[in-house]
Amino acid sequence: MKKIGVLHGKERSFPEAFVARVNSKNIDGIIAEPVSINKAMQGVSSGYAVIIDRISQDVPFYRTWLKNAAVTGTAVINNPFWWSADDKYFNNCLMTQVGVPVPKTAIIPSRDLPDDTSNESFSNLAYPMDWESIFNYVGFPAYMKPFAGGGWKHVYRLDSADDFFRKHSETGQLVMLLQEEIVFEEYYRCYCIGGKYVRIMPYEPRNPHHLRYVADFAPTPEKLQEMTDIVLKINRYLGYDFNTVELAVRNGVPYAIDFCNPAPDAERTSVGEENFEWVVETSANYAIEKALAQVDGVDNLTWGDYVKRSSAKAPLQ
Ligand SMILES: Nc1ncnc2c1ncn2[C@@H]1O[C@H](COP(=O)(O)OP(=O)(O)O)[C@@H](O)[C@H]1O
Ligand SMILES: [Mg+2]
Repeated sequence: MKKIGVLHGKERSFPEAFVARVNSKNIDGIIAEPVSINKAMQGVSSGYAVIIDRISQDVPFYRTWLKNAAVTGTAVINNPFWWSADDKYFNNCLMTQVGVPVPKTAIIPSRDLPDDTSNESFSNLAYPMDWESIFNYVGFPAYMKPFAGGGWKHVYRLDSADDFFRKHSETGQLVMLLQEEIVFEEYYRCYCIGGKYVRIMPYEPRNPHHLRYVADFAPTPEKLQEMTDIVLKINRYLGYDFNTVELAVRNGVPYAIDFCNPAPDAERTSVGEENFEWVVETSANYAIEKALAQVDGVDNLTWGDYVKRSSAKAPLQ
């Protein structure tokens, strides 16, 4: 019997529907259940062929527990090593090297010193930074947001250098991105599962939360194909099995805005019934596919083209 587990926090609608959907398919030799942990010792198998991880971004214990699961043969969705290594600034940097349009983006050292550091720890950093060049590059209005994280926390829209210094002074030890504003005609949030299944959802971030997925943008088949190709390319380079990509379309060009969401919102009440049905069905099918392909004693994780090409010393594209 191969077990598929879901590791989750307080969310209920997606994990429960996922487990029920896998089990309703009655695949011989496959069952799904919420992961249960009552002890954790090094080198001991998790007992799961596949685990869908929805929560380790908030629970460090789970993240390292999943690394042990991976090294003992579990196919963890998403790869816990890559997720630990990744951040939004690196994501953007990689896209500049592989031809995916992204907003101009600079990274800003944290306003406050990290714990246990002093001014001497920063002898490599010029003070002040060359703000003029940074501001000329990014332009105003600009967005400022944490280089890692999500959930629309600490996201600022800034209209001037003064505004930047004022708001930046509130950000404490957070490392922030300063990013060109993309004034978009249309916006899409796109699920990508298994590096191959894509769902492009019109999304209006300027609407209140419960109305964001009721945007009525109607992309042409060509634009849909172009966006699908971008979403696939991003996820294949990063190696995520389950992710969302936000695309802001300006003058017809889809810019990738936010594409490091390895535990994306999949709440029925926020994404709506049809998108929820798609994500439950597609992730259930993909988890089953991974479980059937899983082999004990080897690595069953997904690794992206960035890692694969880099370790082979091959060009990035
Ligand atoms: N460069 C940008 N141009 C235009 N809008 C942006 C930009 N960056 C962020 N936003 C807006 O802010 C929202 C939150 O930012 P996002 O990068 O998605 O962070 P989070 O990971 O917190 O969701 C986006 O959905 C979008 O509406
Ligand atoms: Mg976002």
